[in-house]
Order: sequence, then C-alpha cells, then structure tokens
Amino acid sequence: MSRRFDSKAQCVCTVRGSINHDEYFHVNHIVRPGETLSSYGHESRVGGKGANQAVAIARAGGKAQFYGAIGQDGLWIRDRMSAFGIDVSGIIVAEEPTGRALIQVEKSGENSIILYPGANFSELHEERFKNIGDRWFPESSHILVQNEIPLRSTYYALENAKGATVIMNPSPLPSPSEIRNFPWHLVDWLIVNEEEARELYESVAESAASNTPMSIRQLVFHLSAERAFERTNIVCTLGADGVLAFVPAFHRPQTEHEAPSFMHLPAAKLLGEVRDTTGAGDCFTGYFVKGLMDFGPHAVVGTDIKEHDVARILKTCVQAAGMCVEKRGTIDSIPTKAEVEERMF
Ligand code: ADP
Ligand code: NA
Repeated sequence: MSRRFDSKAQCVCTVRGSINHDEYFHVNHIVRPGETLSSYGHESRVGGKGANQAVAIARAGGKAQFYGAIGQDGLWIRDRMSAFGIDVSGIIVAEEPTGRALIQVEKSGENSIILYPGANFSELHEERFKNIGDRWFPESSHILVQNEIPLRSTYYALENAKGATVIMNPSPLPSPSEIRNFPWHLVDWLIVNEEEARELYESVAESAASNTPMSIRQLVFHLSAERAFERTNIVCTLGADGVLAFVPAFHRPQTEHEAPSFMHLPAAKLLGEVRDTTGAGDCFTGYFVKGLMDFGPHAVVGTDIKEHDVARILKTCVQAAGMCVEKRGTIDSIPTKAEVEERMF
C-alpha cells in the first residue's frame, strides 16, 4: 500500500546503530609493543557512528529516535544524547559494558584505535529489542543504519521498514561475501566514501572487475549498473573533493561520460585549516537524512524530490561537514542548522 505524500506531516527517523564511549589518550608517540606509556591528556566522549549520526540529525533540526544498547557504565552517554533532543527511550541497558574505543592520538594527528563492541553486540535481549522495533519501525518515516552492530540486527531493521525511506552508511563495510548477500534493494540511499565505493564494486561486480584503474565517476557508474544497486541512489563523499551523487530517477545514462546524471558538489570553503576530520562523514550523513525529512514522509525521488532539491540538500551537507572538520571533536563539532545557514547565505 502506498501512502499519500504530505510534505507537512512530521517525519521521524529511527537510527538503529552503535553507541560508544570514546576514550582519547594524548600521547607523544603511539605505544610500541612491550612499552608502558603515560598519556599527557585524556578525554571521554560520546562516539559510535549511530550516535554521531543521530546527533547530526538533531543538530540539523530533525526528530531522531535512537535504537541501540549501552551498559550500566554508559548512562551518561544516554543523557548526553537526550540533551540534544534525541528520543533515547529505545536505548537498552544491557549486561555488557558500553562499546568502547581506545584512541591514542599523537600531536601530528596520527592515531591508533582499539574497538570493543560491548553492548552494541549484545545477544541477550532479543525480546526487548523486538519490542522497540515493533513499536518504532512502523511509525518511522526514515530509518538510518550503519554497520557497527550485528548485521542481522541491521537486516531486521530493513525488513521491517514498511514504506520508510531507508538510508544506509555501511561503514565499516561487511565482508565481501556478506556484501554479495546483502539485500541492497531495501536501501533507498547508500552513503559511502570513495574507498567503500571501490570495495563494494569489487565485491559485487559480476563481470570480473577490470584491472584498469577507474575514476570515481566510472566506478560509481559501474556500481549503480550492478543488479544489486539497480534502484539505489548512491551518494559518494570525496573528502576535500566534496561529493558525487548518482540518482537513477533523474536520468539513467548510457555511459559514465554523460555528465547530467551525476551531481558533483565541491567541498565547502573552510575558514581555517583542517583540524579534525573525525565525524565529518557522520555529520554529512545526519544532515543528508534531515534534508530528506524536510520533504515529509513517503516523498518520492523524481516526483516529490527533484534534482535541484537533492543538489540543495547536498550543498547543506558539504557546508555542515566542512564546519565539522574546522573544529576538534566529533559530536561536539557538528554545527547547528542556524550555524550552517549563516555560512551559506
Ligand atoms: P569519511 O570521513 O566518512 O571517509 P569523507 O572523508 O569523504 O568521509 O568526508 C565526508 C565529507 O566531509 C566530505 O564530503 C566533505 O564534504 C567533508 N570534508 C572532509 N574532509 C574535508 C576537507 N579536508 N575539507 C573540506 N571538507 C571536507
Ligand atoms: Na571535527
């Protein structure tokens, strides 16, 4: 059953994903095997791609509800997310400790990370999880997932999306065989960086991937031509080169040289230097989802959301992500909608 498009209706996005306690240790050099090293600084921050992206939706002005798990040690993270206006009633407190990232950072910016998935991979609460999913998925206009929770939990979200717009930032990428078996047809918008686009293509290419080096345009073109991605809109972020988007509804090209089918937007002009790119991709993704939410539930790309609308959304995203790299921190550096608009006009 297709429901009617109403741009005035409230949208709500369920973010089903990871929450972490990110611990930063500032060190003179990254610890070597056998060495005991004192750090000269320490910070605890909210992390995890799911949490970061939910915060970005909220900072962009969208209604987000978070569906995931922490341990008893992570209640402060839930409070911090709630303070951003996110509905955190879908966060289960599990027996396992909160997922954690131990991050060593050198002055040069070089870092090294140990991840402990913790409660993000909790297997003990299937019933409680199901209750949240059963309640939230049918009422969500948008569902956003990454890949920092068990893949079958992500499947469950996609299978229960029931008419919601599904956005996936499949990071970190599943294994090649998981990629080949993934139900990509349930994903409306795929958001990847250049490296992920290459790996996805190499994993799904039915004809043996040619060994000739491909430009990112050729690559995204070939990726979108694969059966698995036939109906998927692809947004590929290019770091300092901005973003490339491929939306089949606007124009299905015959070759990668047909420019109109691709939208390319340069990165935002920075006011200062690049300080910290962590979280820029998550900021981009959250702003992108909020941009779609502005069109109301059940908005159809090509009919309700036109090419210039997508271009405008992407412009806002590169501006927001650019502001995120100007500042240190992850969620702390995600700008508000008002701050982004001030820089755009
Ligand atoms: P990820 O961090 O997920 O790998 P990217 O590196 O592609 O993603 O960055 C996401 C977005 O952040 C880019 O599309 C761009 O808008 C912005 N961005 C990243 N690095 C820079 C930079 N050096 N200058 C300006 N914008 C940047
Ligand atoms: Na930042």
